[in-house]
Amino acid sequence: MAELSGKVAIVTGAGSGIGEASARGLATAGAKVVVADLNKERAQAVADSIVASGGEAIAVGFDTSDEAQVKTGVEAAVAAFGGIDILHNNAAITSVDFMMRDGPIHGLDVSLWDTTMAVNVRGYMLCAKHVIPVMLGRGGGVILNTSSGAGILGELVRSAYGTSKAAVMGFTRSVATQYGKQGIRCVSVMPGLTMTPTVAANVPPPILEMMKRHTLTQELATPDDVAAAIVFLASDRAARITGATIPVDGGFGIHTPSFADEMAMWAAASGASGAAVVEKVRHALDARYRDTLEADDVALLEGLLAEDAVWHGAGLDAKSDARGRTELIRRWNELTKSDKGAPQIDVGDVYTDGNHVVAVLEVSAGEGSGRAVRQANIFHLDDEGKATEIWAIPGNAVVAQALASGKPVAEHPNVAIFRATEDARARNTFGPEDIGHIERFLREDVRWISPWGKGPASREEVIAQFGTFNQATGGTFKLDINEVFADDTHAISLVRLQADRPDRPGKHMDVKEANVFHLDANGQAYEFWGVADDQAAINNFWT
Ligand SMILES: NC(=O)c1ccc[n+]([C@@H]2O[C@H](COP(=O)([O-])OP(=O)(O)OC[C@H]3O[C@@H](n4cnc5c(N)ncnc54)[C@H](O)[C@@H]3O)[C@@H](O)[C@H]2O)c1
Repeated sequence: MAELSGKVAIVTGAGSGIGEASARGLATAGAKVVVADLNKERAQAVADSIVASGGEAIAVGFDTSDEAQVKTGVEAAVAAFGGIDILHNNAAITSVDFMMRDGPIHGLDVSLWDTTMAVNVRGYMLCAKHVIPVMLGRGGGVILNTSSGAGILGELVRSAYGTSKAAVMGFTRSVATQYGKQGIRCVSVMPGLTMTPTVAANVPPPILEMMKRHTLTQELATPDDVAAAIVFLASDRAARITGATIPVDGGFGIHTPSFADEMAMWAAASGASGAAVVEKVRHALDARYRDTLEADDVALLEGLLAEDAVWHGAGLDAKSDARGRTELIRRWNELTKSDKGAPQIDVGDVYTDGNHVVAVLEVSAGEGSGRAVRQANIFHLDDEGKATEIWAIPGNAVVAQALASGKPVAEHPNVAIFRATEDARARNTFGPEDIGHIERFLREDVRWISPWGKGPASREEVIAQFGTFNQATGGTFKLDINEVFADDTHAISLVRLQADRPDRPGKHMDVKEANVFHLDANGQAYEFWGVADDQAAINNFWT
């Protein structure tokens, strides 16, 4: 048997939006429903469609702010169904023209204030006043009042509306207090912005997007989401809930006010805005590998490099480090013009976030030589996203030597240590030997600067975090190591991350990531970043 079977419910403002969804939800749960609205035609249409789908409903038209009309409406409901067990006070003035006039207090139209209070507050009181005696005669009932997030948070413009909705919550507590012992529960349901047809037709997309940014769930609520809470609260499953306000707002009203700003900040730091930097770097790198640097190319490089940029181990001739944007550009220009035969360079993968850019290049000795060496370039970014320091691993001189001799690049000793560590990390099992590899590589005060804020700050914490990835993904977390580069100052691994979320079916991650480690003089890592080719996909996977 449906859980509200035998109950009679009256829903005000049920000709549209949340009230309509509530009426349908209560009818589906077995209640006989009185669809009440100022707009009798709409109420009738909703009642007819409930009946057409097998429910029981009648329509009554009345203005909730008018006591005589409320009295007649309640009498009509009782006459039709023999009593009332559930009252959903929901009607409020929502017309766009009216709401647009509800502004800051110093210019407020007093009649607008009075009309708002008459419908949104007096209307709830009047319906309760006339329904409570009916409920008491049947041993109890449930009164549900639709309030709004506007009633608990300061409103920038809707002064009257916000105040009326705060009053609804106070009214709810008084009803619950006065009639609880006589079997009447009273609960306020507090929707956030809800995608009713009126909202969909009138709220501009940028505002909807803004509201979504401040909402913790992925989508804004629908009228059915609110109706689901109403049906639950009307049922005996909620028998011990009274006097409370239940938010159905996707967490809009519970988080720190800086939530959306923080999310934007982390997204910026994590490469959601990184796509633009990737493009910039790719163009600048392409410019760098043209035969000569023309004015346009120089402009691209200037856009990328900070004035105090430093290239460690710059020239193919192993000259000392180059310092300053102008000096770097001059050397690149010289290099490409060199009659020694400039190398052919292809720009492969480019990864970036707010801290680093990693570009993987393929350097070849010249057409037809058949010799090529992979090289990773790391750029450190300053606060404005400009490159301040640059490394190439293996260094240019090493690459040049390998190309000239036809022998492979001699691996730096750090590569071996690092590869063992990365292998351990990829296994995700962490036996004693794996921990040993990781400990050999990580310094005690290692820090992972993750896009989500400061990460683990000790070796143990970092190791524990690797373990939790596997747990959080139900064992599906998979890390494939593609390439590993290292020298005295940095180590980089290029990995592919794949995982599913057992708790969120459909969430799947498949991204490439460059992990950049800073090394001390002993080859131990003290800071690292994970720079993804699609950080937004990673963010989406974990949130
Ligand atoms: N939609 C939202 O984003 C949202 C958010 C928070 C709270 N709410 C609240 O939810 C409730 C329903 O709003 P909605 O968005 O579904 O609006 P809606 O405009 O879709 O429906 C409101 C209904 O109330 C009726 N009504 C208005 N004045 C009346 C009166 N004096 N007597 C009888 N009926 C009257 C209207 O005819 C209309 O059918 C309201 O209390 C509103 O304040 C809505």
